Amino acid sequence: MYTTHSRYDIYAFIHKGLRACLTQTLLRVGRLDWTDSDDVAAAMDEVSDMLDFCRQHVAKENTYVHAAMERRRPESATTADHEHEHHLRDIEALEVQTFTIRRLPVLRREDAVTTLYKALAVFVSVNLEHMAMEEREHNRILWDTHSDQEIMAIEHAIVASQSPEDGQRALRWMLTAMQPTERAGFLSVLRQSAPAEVFDGLLQMLRIHLSERDLIKLYAALGMGRRPLDYVGMA
Ligand SMILES: [Fe+2]
Repeated sequence: MYTTHSRYDIYAFIHKGLRACLTQTLLRVGRLDWTDSDDVAAAMDEVSDMLDFCRQHVAKENTYVHAAMERRRPESATTADHEHEHHLRDIEALEVQTFTIRRLPVLRREDAVTTLYKALAVFVSVNLEHMAMEEREHNRILWDTHSDQEIMAIEHAIVASQSPEDGQRALRWMLTAMQPTERAGFLSVLRQSAPAEVFDGLLQMLRIHLSERDLIKLYAALGMGRRPLDYVGMA
């Protein structure tokens, strides 16, 4: 369930989560009511969080994935390194825009929000292309130069290096973006190693973000007898 083309795909779930976060944030800004100060503040928080997610992702790929590729095949990550430098500059520019919008008086917000929306659309587009390149080119290099066990070890090092907050955010986007069978498989494995309170916390989070239909499928797959909505409000 964690592999494509019979090899382990280190990008599969984290990129699925990033695509969900990027596109959902773009839609959020596209439909933002710029006259509603509370809604503007909440949306700018979401944009900032998405940008931070992207920044953390770039850092982890540089430190763990690109370094591993370069050790076995020098210069194999040069293109992606350069693209990551562009992403970091884009993130900085978008952060300046969100910082400005938070402080603008209401009558001056409309143009700034439209400008941010269009800049985000380009950012999302560039990131979607970049992730497709990594899944196509980097996986080919990783599969040529590393065993699946070695690729999983790279992923474990990334997970171990994350702060609890960054880990929670990554799981929130990955788990809600997965297919039901992927989600159940991922959580079944996690359940064996994670503390019970961490696992229960993830289920609580999913009760907020998943549909009842997907929750019922998840609880059935995990062998949890009660209907998921019976648990709402119990934690
Ligand atoms: Fe990347």
